[in-house]
Amino acid sequence: MSEFVNPELVPKVKFYTGEEVPCIGLGTFGSDRVSAEDVAKAVDGAIRSGYRNIDCAACYGNEDLIGDVLKNLLSENVVKRDELFVMTKVWNDMHREVAKALKKSLSDLKLDYVDMYYIHWPFPNYHAPHCDVDSRNPDSKPFSVDEFCDTYEQIAALQKEGLVRNIGISNLTIPKLEAVLPKLSVKPAACELEIHPCFQQNELMQYLIDHDILPVGYMPLGSPRRPERDIVETDINDMAEPVITEIAKNHGVHPALICLKWAQQRGEMAIPFSIHNYVANLKCVTEDPLSDEEMKAIGTMERNNRLVKGQVFLWPGAESWHDLWDEDGVIVQ
Ligand SMILES: NC(=O)c1ccc[n+]([C@@H]2O[C@H](COP(=O)([O-])OP(=O)(O)OC[C@H]3O[C@@H](n4cnc5c(N)ncnc54)[C@H](OP(=O)(O)O)[C@@H]3O)[C@@H](O)[C@H]2O)c1
Repeated sequence: MSEFVNPELVPKVKFYTGEEVPCIGLGTFGSDRVSAEDVAKAVDGAIRSGYRNIDCAACYGNEDLIGDVLKNLLSENVVKRDELFVMTKVWNDMHREVAKALKKSLSDLKLDYVDMYYIHWPFPNYHAPHCDVDSRNPDSKPFSVDEFCDTYEQIAALQKEGLVRNIGISNLTIPKLEAVLPKLSVKPAACELEIHPCFQQNELMQYLIDHDILPVGYMPLGSPRRPERDIVETDINDMAEPVITEIAKNHGVHPALICLKWAQQRGEMAIPFSIHNYVANLKCVTEDPLSDEEMKAIGTMERNNRLVKGQVFLWPGAESWHDLWDEDGVIVQ
């Protein structure tokens, strides 16, 4: 068996409810490159190695195999259900049928409840797995406050039934948050957003902290094997940047671990994907922290290096992917 990292030693992040969870969760998006079988195998190995936090989604196409793994680990008593924090997400084509979507995820994951249920994207705009960057769904629509709140309240009702412990949101902007937060009957516990050293989202991160919503950083390593549709020539490879490689050299570790230490010390939950390096990724936050100077040096790396531009979610009439991100401070319609 591979090395075991004592979950007690993994630093925790705290939701406004007071609940604490490990600051590192395992991502499970195979990026159209890693098979569902290999992702499920990594979930098995990760939980056996001390992971207690897993980030799933219906659209990753692997919840059924992850569910087999969870069922097996629970029946073998490797872990108890209440020691695990399992997160999943409603996909864009199910915003009007959230109960059905959740029941499918629960049935696939072989669980009675999930610990966090996110609205994956704030647009009801479906695209097929493996699609290319020019793929557009003609039924796509711009953001609607009312429709988003309706989807959210469907989750709130499922929370009352005990099927969802916490509600999460994802890929929102400050203008969208300003519009929806006052209308929601339950405050979201967490928000997933893209964060890595060259895309720090400082303003949005501060907004979330000020509103007591936990920032959950996705692609914390700059997702070197992201889907083809999300790669453009001008993208920066965070882990190859000199600030990161220099600090990594000084600590004698892979640059990935520097990105994760930075994420942890900055106060977010990070959800790195890995089928080969997941033990090192969990262990690195339990030892050898970055100094204040190193944290400051990484703080200077911001380059607006957004990797998930989201072109496939655009609606007819939208001009470019920038429209998804409300860059002028107003919701683009
Ligand atoms: N809410 C959303 O809209 C959203 C969007 C995107 C992603 N996510 C979530 O965020 C998770 C993470 O994002 P991601 O998977 O795109 O990118 P990522 O975690 O930034 O990068 C994963 C890549 O880094 C490599 N890696 C991991 N640890 C490493 C290490 N210690 N040394 C060297 N290489 C290492 C992995 O390779 P190996 O497998 O070989 O280790 C894999 O290719 C996803 O899996 C998903 O759960 C959410």
